[in-house]
Amino acid sequence: ARITLRQLLDHAAENDYGVPAFNINNMEQALAIMEAASSLDAPVIIQASRGARAYANDIMLTRMMDALTEIYPQIPICVHLDHGNGPATCMTAIQAGFTSVMMDGSLKEDGKSPGDWAYNVGVTKRVVDMAHLGGVSVEGELGVLGSLETGMGDKEDGHGAEGKLSHDQLLTNPQEALKFVVETKVDALAIAMGTSHGAYKFTRKPDGAILAMHVLEEIHRLLPNTHLVMHGSSSVPQDLQDIINQYGGQMKPTWGVPVEEIQRGIKNGVRKINIDTDNRMAMTGQIRKVLTEHPSEFDPRKYLKPAMEAMTKLCKQRFQEFNTAGQA
Ligand code: G3H
Ligand code: 13P
Ligand code: NA
Ligand code: ZN
Repeated sequence: ARITLRQLLDHAAENDYGVPAFNINNMEQALAIMEAASSLDAPVIIQASRGARAYANDIMLTRMMDALTEIYPQIPICVHLDHGNGPATCMTAIQAGFTSVMMDGSLKEDGKSPGDWAYNVGVTKRVVDMAHLGGVSVEGELGVLGSLETGMGDKEDGHGAEGKLSHDQLLTNPQEALKFVVETKVDALAIAMGTSHGAYKFTRKPDGAILAMHVLEEIHRLLPNTHLVMHGSSSVPQDLQDIINQYGGQMKPTWGVPVEEIQRGIKNGVRKINIDTDNRMAMTGQIRKVLTEHPSEFDPRKYLKPAMEAMTKLCKQRFQEFNTAGQA
């Protein structure tokens, strides 16, 4: 059944678990997630970015979500817009049947310059007012994602702030977070704590200097009833890097967010954990492997099936690690 983000995260808070929010762009990724969710009785958040909507077409996405709820009637599914950049994008997602939208006002509509306080509160409040009229949930974001090691916003994957940012911008201010939630009435709040999108988050295993768990803990102390969201939460597992590189890929050495830090986050109010990169890597590793080992193969199912299985395996791991398993 379709469920809103608010309904799902309220249940997660009451029962002390976290919910991974997996990005999709196509049928293979959607089926891989649902296979994992149904085999473990886990509720899911399936999210699509603006890029995913442009890639797959809203009508295709809508019908696919309908199909998933029909195939898996026992699994609660929240369909969420990832990183909406303005009221119009959020409204068209709602029209397409999304039960939750992110209004990311941490960046201006150009997706490059940080949004100031007045812009962020104003645009987020506007989306909340509209979405709530239709029973749709809203995630907001305060603070800009980017690296505390380099001070750079995460431009790498095509969206994120450009250029160098101060620690003030890269770390959500807890007092401001409190004000932001009260003024906007968002259902969930994404915070900046040193994570960034993509595979290249950290040059070493992160410690408190570059992954600011203390900021998260302070925000949770001030806002114990607010559902917090961790973006850029792929762990970028070494074994997935190895498979890609073993079969002709060229990923540079890198670190992601360790699962134990996410688990610590879940003890401190984190309810939604955004993961895309890990699944991209899981699929790509298998596709590279099949095509390298069987260069004469050209039936897409021959590499997409193992790719889906690798993604299902990753999703199952996260459902177990975040205690989502068994909560459907
Ligand atoms: O926020 C980033 C997600 O990984 C989605 O990425 O905009 O390339 O679809 P995308
Ligand atoms: P990753 O790139 O770490 O998977 O983060 C995804 C994300 O935050 C989507 O909004
Ligand atoms: Na999101
Ligand atoms: Zn994100």
